[in-house]
Amino acid sequence: MFLNNDEEKMLQGEYGIIVQKSMKILVTLGDVFGAERMVKVKSVHISGISYKNIGDPALEFLEEWANNGAKTRVHTTINPSGMDMERWRDFGISEAFAKKQIRIIDAFKKMKTCKSLSCTPYLIGNKPQLNDHIAWAESSAVAFSNSVLGAKTNREGGPAALASAITGRTSMFGYHLDENRNPSHEIYINEPVNGVLEYSTLGYHVGKKLGHCIPFFKNLKKPNIDELKALSAGLAASGSIALYHIYNVTPEEKKFRENSYERIDVRKRDLTETLAELSIEEKNEHICIGCPQCSMREIAEIARKVAGKKVKRELWVFTSSIICKEAKLKGYVDVIERAGGKMISDTCMVVSPMKMMGVRGVITNSCKAAHYIPNTCEIPVALKNINNCIKVALGK
Ligand code: F3S
Repeated sequence: MFLNNDEEKMLQGEYGIIVQKSMKILVTLGDVFGAERMVKVKSVHISGISYKNIGDPALEFLEEWANNGAKTRVHTTINPSGMDMERWRDFGISEAFAKKQIRIIDAFKKMKTCKSLSCTPYLIGNKPQLNDHIAWAESSAVAFSNSVLGAKTNREGGPAALASAITGRTSMFGYHLDENRNPSHEIYINEPVNGVLEYSTLGYHVGKKLGHCIPFFKNLKKPNIDELKALSAGLAASGSIALYHIYNVTPEEKKFRENSYERIDVRKRDLTETLAELSIEEKNEHICIGCPQCSMREIAEIARKVAGKKVKRELWVFTSSIICKEAKLKGYVDVIERAGGKMISDTCMVVSPMKMMGVRGVITNSCKAAHYIPNTCEIPVALKNINNCIKVALGK
C-alpha cells in the first residue's frame, strides 16, 4: 500500500511506539482488504468500553497504551460503559466492577476522547458531513452515519478504531470507495411503517434476510431521526448491514434510482412475525427505553406520557450524559423522576450487568436489545411500542 511521508514516519516509529503500533494495525488491515492507500479521517467512534464486555485483558491493554502516551488526534467519541459513571451505587453495581470500569474510562480520558459515553455520537456533536471519511465502530452508529449522513466508514472493530484515532487515518477500502456503496436489493414496503418499534422491527427483519448486503428502501414515508436510529440498529443487529439507502430520504439515493435490483416485498405480517419470534414474555418487570440511547425528543415524549402520574414498575431511561444534562435543564428529567422513573447515563441495557442490577426481565421497544439481552444478560425481553411500554410502567 502507498504511504505518504507522514504515514511512513508513523510506521517507522518516528512519532513513538504507540503511533507505530497503530499504523501497523491499519496497514495490516489495508493489506488484507487490498487498500491502495490511506485516507485521513474527520472523526472516530470507539466501541468496546464496557468492562462487562471487554474484561481484564482489554483493560490492561488500554492502560498500557494510555500510560505510553497514546493520544487521539481527531474528534473521538466512545460507546457506553457498563454503568452510570456517577450514580452506579444507586443501581446495585459492585465496587469491584465499578473500580475496573473507572480504570477503563480513565485510560480513555488520558487518551483525550470525549467524556460523554454514547452510541449516538451524531446526537452529541460528533456529526460527520456528507462524504467525510470517518472510522467508526458501534454497528448502529456506523449504519446511521453511512446511510443517513452520507459519511464513509467501514464497520470498525474497537482496536482498529482506536488506531485510527491515534493516527488520524484509516485504510481506503470497503465503504470508503464509491463503487462499494451501490444497493444490492430493493426493499419495497407494502404497508405503512410507523414509530420506533416498527422501524426497529423492519430493520431486524431485513437484516436477517440480507446478512451483509445494501438495501434500498422504497415506499417508506419520511422517517424521523429516532425512526432512522432504530432502523439502523435493527439492520445492524440481525445482519451486518452497515449502509442502506431510502428513496427520497437518504443523501446518496438519487444516484441509484434508475437502476433495478432484486426486489423483496415487506408486509405488515412479516413485521408481526419477526416481533413474535423475538419477544419473550415472562416475568418482565423492568421497562427499559433507550437502545440506541434516547434522543431529546424521545425523553420529552416519555416525560409527557408520565407527567403527573406514578409508575408501578421500574422505568429506566438510558441516554448520554450530555443529553441527560440538557433534558434536566428543560425539566424532563424532573418530570420523569417525580413519576418514579429513573434516568441512567453513560450506559445501556445491553452492556451493563443487568442481573447484578437486580433485573430479571425487560420490556423495551428495541429489537437490537431483544436480540442481545437474552444472551449477554441471560434474561428475557418482551417487545412493545413506547405507548404500551409506558402503559405497563404505569400499571394500566
Ligand atoms: Fe447502544 Fe447499547 Fe443499544 S450501545 S445501540 S444502547 S446495545
